[in-house]
This record gives sequence, structure tokens and C-alpha cells, in this order.
Amino acid sequence: MEREKVRLSGVAETTLATLYGKALASRSADPVLVDRQAQDAVGRLDYDFSRLGVSRSTALGIALRSSYLDRWTREALSHHPDATVLHLGCGLDGRSQRVEPPPAVHWYDIDYPEVIELRRRLYPGRPGYHTVGGSVTEPQWLAHLPADRPGVVVAEGLVQYLTEAEVVSLLAAIVDRFPGGVIIFDAWSSLAMRLSRRRKVFRATGTGVGGWGIDDPLVIQSLVPGLRFDKQQTFLDMPEMVRFDWPTRLMVALTKRFPAAYNSGRLVRYSF
Ligand SMILES: C[S@@+](CC[C@H](N)C(=O)[O-])C[C@H]1O[C@@H](n2cnc3c(N)ncnc32)[C@H](O)[C@@H]1O
Repeated sequence: MEREKVRLSGVAETTLATLYGKALASRSADPVLVDRQAQDAVGRLDYDFSRLGVSRSTALGIALRSSYLDRWTREALSHHPDATVLHLGCGLDGRSQRVEPPPAVHWYDIDYPEVIELRRRLYPGRPGYHTVGGSVTEPQWLAHLPADRPGVVVAEGLVQYLTEAEVVSLLAAIVDRFPGGVIIFDAWSSLAMRLSRRRKVFRATGTGVGGWGIDDPLVIQSLVPGLRFDKQQTFLDMPEMVRFDWPTRLMVALTKRFPAAYNSGRLVRYSF
């Protein structure tokens, strides 16, 4: 079979790093995430994944984040089995396959048009599943989605590319559009944002994670009326940290001694 050409650059290209990480982690002996769609897609893309510098350890981190967000999404859907799901900055991620939403759910995968175009070439459609090619910073598309049901909104690896004003206006538009629901995403502190700039994936894609460093998730609650902070999971506190190689575990143990570093990355959930 002829392999699919990839014409992604900049921030859109970063989805190839997370895709590859999920495929790589799925192949490990005792995986935290099994993503057959990612494994299949990596084999079908005409792309040199080695340029992104995704190590086994990075792949485990990517898979761990995904597995927690899958779990939180399933949990949200167990309370809202008729939800409209917005999967923002979906990239080539196969969450809708992994989570297996209840049949009444309307699932929308949203990313830049060139990413969605590649998704459509790679993955088959199915009832209840939709894609939207557009930017989350210009969410006019929101007006066309069904808003008579609760919204379950998931964003993985997205918010770090958005400024504070963009995050606040996106969240406010979502709260305004749906009668209620939950919003879950990964949030990175200003320290984490500064440290991540040297990572190979950002050099390879020419991307900067110049977005909002979120040091206190409660701040969002005060900036977006109607949004309530529910819970968080700090990455360094995940029991699965024991799965990392010893240099990473040592670094984690040292990092945990410094309060500013302790909460450098976390998953957060809000309801409205
Ligand atoms: C690191 S990738 C993560 C992809 C996917 N969520 C995953 O975890 O595999 C970041 C994704 O965010 C998307 N993205 C960044 N800024 C965006 C914007 N303003 N509107 C829509 N998508 C955006 C990129 O195109 C890319 O697919």
C-alpha cells in the first residue's frame, strides 16, 4: 500500500510526536496505553519520525497523559452519556476509538484544517463521529455544534500553545455555548514552559511553546465566570512514575523537593 504523504509543519507537526509516542509505548511489554490506531497510522505515514527525538521515556510520558485523560473522559461520559464531546487539538489521536463512547454521544475532533485533512485520509468515519477543521482560537464553528446536551471537552497537549487571553476566551465561549459539562486538559507551569523550549521536538518543528504558563489552576476559575475547578492530578505524583528508567526517577525525586517544580505539569478538570 502506498504510504500517506505528510505535509504538516509548525505546531500542527507536533501531533506526529505524540502519535509516535503512543505507538511506541503501545509496543512495550506492559503498556499503560494500547493504541492500535496510532501503531497502524505510524506504519502508514511517509515520515521520518526519528527527527522528533521521541525517546522511550518521552513515549511513556505521552502515553501516561493519554491514559489518564481517557479515564477522565470515560468518567465524564458515565455521568453524561448523551454528551457532545469536543476533542480540541485532537491531532491524529485516537481517543474516540480508545474511549468507546456511549452510542448517543456526538463526538467532534477539532484541529487545524491540514491536520483534519490527514486524519480523514487515515481513519474511517463512523456514526456519531465528526471532524472540524478550524482553529480553537477562532471558535465560530462552535455555533454549528449541537448545544442542547452537556459538553465534555478534552484537550491534550494543546493549551501550552495558547496565550492566556486565548485560553480564557475559548473556555468562556464553551461555558456560554453548553448548558453544563466538564472541561479537562493538561496544564503546564511557567517553569515547565521555560524548560521545555530546548526539547528536540520543538527545534525539529520550529515551534515554540510560547503559551500561558499556568501556575495556579484556581486562577482560571476566577477568569472564566461559571467555571469551577474540580480536581487535579500532578504528573510527578502519578503512581506509574515507578515505570520510568532510573535517571528519570532520580530526577523526579529531586524535583519533588522544590515546590515550584513539583506542580510543573498536571491534569486539571473543571465543571460548569
Ligand atoms: C502536541 S499535539 C497533540 C495532539 C493530540 N492531542 C495528542 O495528544 O496526540 C498539539 C495539537 O494541537 C493542535 N493545535 C495547536 N494550536 C491549535 C489551534 N489554535 N487550533 C486547533 N488546533 C491547534 C496542533 O495542530 C496539534 O495537532
